[in-house]
Amino acid sequence: MRPKPGIETIQPYQGGKPIEEVQRELGISDIIKLASNENPLGPSPMALQAIQDAATQVNLYPDGNAYYLKQDLAAHVGVDPEQLILGNGSNEVLQLVGETYVSPSDEVIYSESAFVVYMLVAKVFGAKSIITPMDGYTQDLRAMADAITDQTRVIFIANPNNPTGTMVTKTETEKLMARVPDDVLVVFDEAYYEYVDRPDYPETLPYLHEGRNVIITRTFSKIYGLAGMRIGYGLAKPDIIETMNRVRQPFNCNLVAQAAARAALKDAEHVRRSQEINAAGKAVLYEELDQMGLEYVESEGNFILVHFDRPGDEVSDALMRKGVIVRPVAGYGFPNSIRVTIGTPEENERFVNGLKAVLGE
Ligand SMILES: Cc1ncc(COP(=O)(O)O)c(C=O)c1O
Repeated sequence: MRPKPGIETIQPYQGGKPIEEVQRELGISDIIKLASNENPLGPSPMALQAIQDAATQVNLYPDGNAYYLKQDLAAHVGVDPEQLILGNGSNEVLQLVGETYVSPSDEVIYSESAFVVYMLVAKVFGAKSIITPMDGYTQDLRAMADAITDQTRVIFIANPNNPTGTMVTKTETEKLMARVPDDVLVVFDEAYYEYVDRPDYPETLPYLHEGRNVIITRTFSKIYGLAGMRIGYGLAKPDIIETMNRVRQPFNCNLVAQAAARAALKDAEHVRRSQEINAAGKAVLYEELDQMGLEYVESEGNFILVHFDRPGDEVSDALMRKGVIVRPVAGYGFPNSIRVTIGTPEENERFVNGLKAVLGE
């Protein structure tokens, strides 16, 4: 059976290897996973309780409009519930952008070494990818603005970007937005929003309030520690949300995930601790990597791109045999690098010791 044009050029998404798979394949136990930018503290205890409570109701369909979660999120973010769409992870919201707005004759702009899902969305919906060069390790918003044509439909910006961890600034964003025509949708993918601690990080909500064609995506997968629940959201003006809702599957966010997300939102202390452990772990890892003489990219997220003088795949495989799963990133144009998620102090230590052993072997 022949698929739609373009589908055969798509490589299946390679996620971080699950712990169980490595256990099965290598026959080792005591494995840590620092490969998918998950929260090493786990979910909030409040979210865990909500998950248990909600489990008794899973004979029922969820509220397809997620009324209560939208109320809570709207108050938390500072928007109206009509400016919110929920997704099965923010990934689904990115996919919905494609389903709703991208046709085969369109051009979709994103940067090289940007989060892979933008390329997938462009390919699945048959659009032409316009891939702009990076400025060092950062997405070049001027190059993106220069790439806009009459065919441009969507611009995807990951801020911060995965796997580089770099962010684009407020000034760069303002300059881009001044050049974006009204029939182009700008997607600000802010999956790591809560980790960023820089004064020049752009607040994108004002674009929404000004009525610009933007969609901001955020997630419960990262700092809220709910990656396995699959729940994320998009923020946009009501007419965009209403249009995307026509395409969205009616029960795309399950009942347990909605309950978990509501509880997680209430646990500000867990978010604060997660920020703290990440900042502290980042400082420790920078110091250790410096001492090992390794180059890395300074990160605004909960992960670090680290460079080697040998293939990242090799480093990753050798670490895996020591029970430390990290992510090789050759597919992002970094054949000699890996991406490591910042873990607990114990996990970071295991990674560092494992890396020292691997590099000394
Ligand atoms: C930049 C970026 N955007 C979006 C996502 C999707 O996350 P989720 O679908 O779990 O919300 C990720 C996940 O790694 C990411 O790194």
